[in-house]
Amino acid sequence: MLFKSILTASLAILSSALFAEARKSKTHDVIVGGAAGLVYTPNQVHAKVGDYVKFHFQFKNHTVTQSSFDEPCEPLKGGFDSGFRLTMPLLSSMPVAMDAKKGPTFTIEVKDENPIWVHCEQVDHCPSGMVFAVNAPKKGNTFKKSSQALGQPPTGSPSTARVNHRVPSKTHDVIVGGAAGLVYTPNQVHAEVGDHVKFHFQFKNHTVTQSSFDEPCEPLKGGFDSGFMPVAMDAKKGPTFTIEVKDENPIWVHCEQVDHCPSGMVFAVNAPKKGNTFKKVSDSHFFRKFTVLTTFLLQFLKAAKKSGKDEYHDGGSYKRSDEDAEEDIEEKRSLLSRITGKRDVVEA
Ligand SMILES: *[C@@H]1O[C@H](CO)[C@@H](O)[C@H](O)[C@H]1NC(C)=O
Ligand SMILES: *[C@@H]1O[C@H](CO)[C@@H](O)[C@H](O)[C@H]1NC(C)=O
Repeated sequence: MLFKSILTASLAILSSALFAEARKSKTHDVIVGGAAGLVYTPNQVHAKVGDYVKFHFQFKNHTVTQSSFDEPCEPLKGGFDSGFRLTMPLLSSMPVAMDAKKGPTFTIEVKDENPIWVHCEQVDHCPSGMVFAVNAPKKGNTFKKSSQALGQPPTGSPSTARVNHRVPSKTHDVIVGGAAGLVYTPNQVHAEVGDHVKFHFQFKNHTVTQSSFDEPCEPLKGGFDSGFMPVAMDAKKGPTFTIEVKDENPIWVHCEQVDHCPSGMVFAVNAPKKGNTFKKVSDSHFFRKFTVLTTFLLQFLKAAKKSGKDEYHDGGSYKRSDEDAEEDIEEKRSLLSRITGKRDVVEA
């Protein structure tokens, strides 16, 4: 059974990866709370009808509750509501299993082009600015107007902006690892010269290391490097690492931890929309993943065959008496989860 489900899962990953191009709907990942504080990261997304927004709950006790532009901190009648979600306790007996450990998630579908307003129902969270929007209008009822109604308006108040014609510099928050898996969330930002990108490290042991388009998993000579930032699972706040955007050139980033970059832990600032795109970098990871996965499957099939036919019944149940065998399976399962990064397969 386990063997079969692993095989099925693997094939599902392969086919979903292969046909990702053809599929139109996209999932937008949003971190709820965590090291970044009482915020959703990012705090808004622009999505197409049919897309999904997947909220990853991190430590603390938050909700994802639909509201309205007029009453950003009040639940919308008939709107969706995740209810209170606490991050699940983490099992720590298997080190690799931590890769797969996640807080609960809550996913909504974008059903039309209307803006969707969201807030956290926890006492004081919304008034202190814990709001989120999908497809907030660029004019009229903007996200800015909605959040200005709250206690802490976003940085760069209109008066400063008017006096200074220069747009005030902005800090782009990025979550490193954490509940979302071996990823930076979001995985790219577009920033103006003078802006800052602040990386918030979450549990595990990651780096923020500059690389290049040509060698996305190699440190760039003379580039920046945060070094390893181990964060305990129960840490309230991880360390941060901030870079300044000094010019308009793209900045490529990866995690130096073993296997993280090859499984897709890459990030970019101002990746070009044409030519050396972000997609090209992530695609190169896909092919590496594909190779690793194929090798793994072949090895697994070989091992399963060798371990004896008597253990593999028609019913598909996979039995082995000794504990070593169980461990072996766990190891391969974990390997699979590492290779596939943040995909949900292992949860099944
Ligand atoms: C989460 O917060 C809600 C509202 O404040 C509270 O009722 C609930 O008991 C909390 N859950 C836990 C486990 O702290
Ligand atoms: C973090 O990872 C690096 C590289 O794998 C390792 O050398 C270091 O010991 C790790 N730190 C902790 C605290 O796990």
